[in-house]
Amino acid sequence: MKFPYSEKVLEHFKHPRNVGKIENPDGNALEGSPACGDMVAVYIKVDSDKNRIEDVKFESYGCASNIATGSIITELAKGKTLDEAKKIDWKEASEALGGLPPIKAHCSVLAVEGLRSAIQNYEERHGLVKEQKPTTVEIVRKRLKKVMNPLSGLDLVRTNLVTDVEVEGGVVRVVIDIPSGHQFANNIRDEILEKIEPLWDVNQVVVEFTE
Ligand code: FES
Repeated sequence: MKFPYSEKVLEHFKHPRNVGKIENPDGNALEGSPACGDMVAVYIKVDSDKNRIEDVKFESYGCASNIATGSIITELAKGKTLDEAKKIDWKEASEALGGLPPIKAHCSVLAVEGLRSAIQNYEERHGLVKEQKPTTVEIVRKRLKKVMNPLSGLDLVRTNLVTDVEVEGGVVRVVIDIPSGHQFANNIRDEILEKIEPLWDVNQVVVEFTE
């Protein structure tokens, strides 16, 4: 049987580098693909004197291409400065893998976006974001798309659990349509805080449940 994948893709798929989680990462992100519903999580440790990525790991809940791309971009990113690592794009990842089938482009985009978001998360947490746009309801909603609803494995927005979002005077209020005594209520609240609090002009995040 002939696989549509290059030798290099198969090799990285079978023996992915840098798989796993970094405890207490300096930056992290979870990205989901609208095309297939798969996810990738990326964690980074940063040498803050040199703004250099000391360590990077990923967890993939995606296909072979996604795993192979996560493996190659973590190899490419390790030791690079944040600015250099941000420039890694799916084309570079795909070339480093000896090519990916075009239908699989979104899988490598997903891994690349995961790395970029983890860097962005680090920069937000450390006040390094250069262009600071005021936080809007839209920006909050976009971030809520990265919080998973553990009941379905899809995000909160897609599963219609976000019933209200308000942004005013540095306070973000989010209303989630589950009872506060729900087994996942605390997890969901923690994840929302983790995603929204790093925004530069947000002082407080209030998560309310409908009952
Ligand atoms: Fe979903 Fe590849 S098909 S990540």
